[in-house]
Amino acid sequence: MYEWVKALHVISVIAWMAGLLYLPRLMVYHAVSAPGSEQSETFKVMERRLLKAIMTPAMLSSWLFGLWTMWEIQAWQQGWFHVKLLLVVVMSAFHGFCAVWVREFAADSRRRKQRFFRFMNEIPTLLMVVIVIMVVVKPF
Ligand code: HEM
Repeated sequence: MYEWVKALHVISVIAWMAGLLYLPRLMVYHAVSAPGSEQSETFKVMERRLLKAIMTPAMLSSWLFGLWTMWEIQAWQQGWFHVKLLLVVVMSAFHGFCAVWVREFAADSRRRKQRFFRFMNEIPTLLMVVIVIMVVVKPF
């Protein structure tokens, strides 16, 4: 049972990460498209569907199966898990900011520039690298 739960956790995490890496990239190009243009309207549909149909369900199932595995191995007693949990909470906050940016673009806002999204695009990558090292290597 435990291996099945962990497999469902990793599947959920891969879907969540795919969205977290792709959505800010879409916004890099959306930020330079003209408000009301056909291109901007297409970006709005892509961003909304990616967030609502893939990222949010994947984040919720990552937490569900992650907490389930945590319970099975009592991971809260281990140092690596404390660091991982902190970084996953930061990743979830980043997801929340993505939802704010999707809403801003839906209202044709251009207050954030392309450079801002290029920088934001790096954050989930850095978090993912440290999270995976923590859970696979378990350095402490
Ligand atoms: C959402 C909250 C999360 C919780 C509560 C959580 C918790 C856990 C726990 C307790 C395990 C089992 C570790 C073991 O059996 O050795 C695990 C496995 C794993 N987690 Fe998470 N995790 C979460 C999110 C993430 C995220 C965001 C990533 C990647 C970016 C991730 C990547 C992994 C991987 C790759 C494994 C398999 C490790 C292995 O089999 O060696 N997890 N997770």
